[in-house]
Amino acid sequence: MESKTSAGIIGTGSYLPEKVLSNLKLEKMVDTSDDWIRSRTGIVERRIADRQTAASDLSIKAAERALEKANIGAEELDLIIVATITPDYFFPATACIVQDKLGAKKAAAFDLLAACSGFVYGISVAEQFIKSNAYKYILVIGVEVLSKIVDWSDRNTCILFGDGAGAAVVAPVEEGKGVLFTRLGADGSGGDLLMLPGGGSRIPCTSSSVENGLHYLRMSGSDIFKFAVKIMGEFTVETLKDCGFEVEDIDLLIPHQANLRIINSAAKRLDLPVEKIWTNIHRFGNMSAASIPVALDEAVSQKRIVPGSLLVLVGFGAGLTWGINVIRW
Ligand code: ACO
Repeated sequence: MESKTSAGIIGTGSYLPEKVLSNLKLEKMVDTSDDWIRSRTGIVERRIADRQTAASDLSIKAAERALEKANIGAEELDLIIVATITPDYFFPATACIVQDKLGAKKAAAFDLLAACSGFVYGISVAEQFIKSNAYKYILVIGVEVLSKIVDWSDRNTCILFGDGAGAAVVAPVEEGKGVLFTRLGADGSGGDLLMLPGGGSRIPCTSSSVENGLHYLRMSGSDIFKFAVKIMGEFTVETLKDCGFEVEDIDLLIPHQANLRIINSAAKRLDLPVEKIWTNIHRFGNMSAASIPVALDEAVSQKRIVPGSLLVLVGFGAGLTWGINVIRW
């Protein structure tokens, strides 16, 4: 019988648009205040893409950096997975556009829709292809241009989100390293808590759907908040236990960056020192599928993750979806 190969991340990269939108600027756009946003969310500023920039543009820049770090060429890639809720188009897949522009001629490509859990889902899928020896090099990208689907007159949502991209190359690594455990979950009954109602086959895009703002993201903030706190606490503890680890074993936890209060409540629930939890929400806001890979690239660049570190990635978001990757670096 063919032996199973371990899959690990051998290179990361990220890209953030240059334009910074601060809370102070937002105060001039909607009825809000820097103080409200900081105290309720932890966000100070976020990045916003130019009008002409789409998800594939950000993805390519992050991907090129990840490929360079992994020291492989795009032509060596076997598969490209793009996790996003803001693709360039419904179709073709953003992953196919990235495949073409990178020159990844032999790579298969598809998009993955699991909202803020998208990157964690993507790593889990990539791991399966590597473990089964089907593929050698897989590029997983988490990217969002949420500024394009946010209603900039709705203070409940527009203050939360930002744009960005993060990428990781997944490949075979030595036994005992790489992705040790992954677990994914979903609860479709909570789908209406966070959604983009218009433009699909349920409510096709018409002048009336646009007049009613159905092309904008809608969210029940407090319900999502409760769900996120539960996932970050209970799900993380249970999963760690099931794979034989204690919270003390974690060297770094990278959670989805939705709200600093969610992250702090998880730190308390897990009894994990805040220094062991990566946060960048103050600078970038909630970038959905891009939050975790951007944070991962920062943590790797700043050597907060070194060979041997136990890294835990936890995502939660629309769907509802959630997932965890436990990784030995
Ligand atoms: N500025 C000032 N006041 C505001 C703002 C704002 N930007 N937004 C809302 N308020 C007001 C509300 O209108 C409300 O006023 P009212 O009491 O007079 O009605 C008051 O502030 C309190 O509103 P709450 O909704 O109770 O505020 P809360 O403390 O719950 O914070 C928030 C809201 C930040 C949205 C929080 O619920 C949250 O972070 N939820 C999770 C969101 C999230 O994680 N979403 C993304 C998931 S990821 C994905 O898949 C894309």
